[in-house]
Amino acid sequence: MAKILVTGGLGYIGSHTVVELIQSGYDVVIVDNLSNSEQTVLDGIEAITGVRPVFEQLDICDEKAFQACLTKYPHIDAVIHFAAYKAVGESVEKSLDYYRNNVFGLIQLLTLMRKNNIPNIIFSSSCTVYGQPDKLPIDESAPRKPATSPYGNTKQMCEDIIHDAVVSYHDIKAVLLRYFNPIGAHPSAKIGELPKGVPNNLVPFITQTAAGIRKELSVFGDDYNTPDGSAIRDYIYVVDLAKAHVKAMQRLLSGENKAEVEVFNLGTGQGVSVLELVKTFMKATGMNLPYKIVGRRSGDTEQVWADNTRAEKELGWTATTPLDEVLRSAWNWEKQVRGL
Ligand code: NAD
Ligand code: UFG
Repeated sequence: MAKILVTGGLGYIGSHTVVELIQSGYDVVIVDNLSNSEQTVLDGIEAITGVRPVFEQLDICDEKAFQACLTKYPHIDAVIHFAAYKAVGESVEKSLDYYRNNVFGLIQLLTLMRKNNIPNIIFSSSCTVYGQPDKLPIDESAPRKPATSPYGNTKQMCEDIIHDAVVSYHDIKAVLLRYFNPIGAHPSAKIGELPKGVPNNLVPFITQTAAGIRKELSVFGDDYNTPDGSAIRDYIYVVDLAKAHVKAMQRLLSGENKAEVEVFNLGTGQGVSVLELVKTFMKATGMNLPYKIVGRRSGDTEQVWADNTRAEKELGWTATTPLDEVLRSAWNWEKQVRGL
């Protein structure tokens, strides 16, 4: 079976994808520097799959360590590249760290892929590249808008670098996956999202509030031009998202790809407002969730959801898990982490 290198494989989306890869029969090699994850995630992966994947703790920006790993584990068929920093606000404060880790990290990876004859890459991009789109739902042909943060800029730059590298050398094929808003945890509650400090993202903030760690949720804005005034996003279950990576991998490895670089939106195709999500959480879990309406968060877009047609047609993939089940998985994970 094919051997897949997963950078950032102990992180939130990476760990769920590793589980799906193993369950689909792939050999997995994980590299991660643990800058935003814990080695104990390996135990969760092993408990779910019965397989403890190979793990090397290293920074992908460290050329020597990375090359040594590729020498130790030769004949890699493809890379799934999750390793990056992802906090939008922090990227404004520490822009050079973000450019070094996300952009230089990718350049290093592509260089070593070429040197070690690794011909395939799947890259974690984001719907953030679309900004506030002119037309909804958004399909992949929608123009990218100027980034509103260094983080968003790194995703645009990385997409461009992959395009350019493919055109220059024609020895790498790439799939760019533009995730909408990944949420939830594995149904086993053995792996999930582990935000450090106060969560920026909505669902971890909700589950921590329900667990009593945060006093109340602040809903950022109820004066948007949406049916209930709160902002709309496309919340995609992380396990459904992980399965899309397996489909994209099968497509690359079997040579079914129709271009050297392909781009896919990964969302549900449904827009959900913040207030709808809060209400669905309460109904799905039976938990009360204290919240208050506050002003808009700067830099937020009003409404975004995906046109998934291309992923449906070309990858044979759709997100199938209903939102209440997804939110229950997030809550079960929070309870497991807190020992509730
Ligand atoms: P995460 O922080 O949980 O996972 C990233 C992993 O990469 C972490 O385990 C971290 O320790 C590791 N890492 C970071 N820099 C590294 C380096 N230089 N060398 C080795 N390991 C390194 O993040 P996630 O939510 O799983 O996101 C994965 C990818 O998906 C990222 O590229 C992110 O930008 C992208 N993405 C995430 C979201 C989201 O909302 N979670 C949305 C769109 C795109
Ligand atoms: N929100 C609140 N209160 C909170 C947190 C969030 O009302 O405490 C609102 C936000 O204003 C937004 C929605 O909930 O309207 C979702 O916010 P998130 O922070 O969870 O997600 P974003 O859409 O802002 O951004 C996320 C990631 C980005 C990524 C983007 C698209 O943080 O890195 O999804 O994939 F680029």
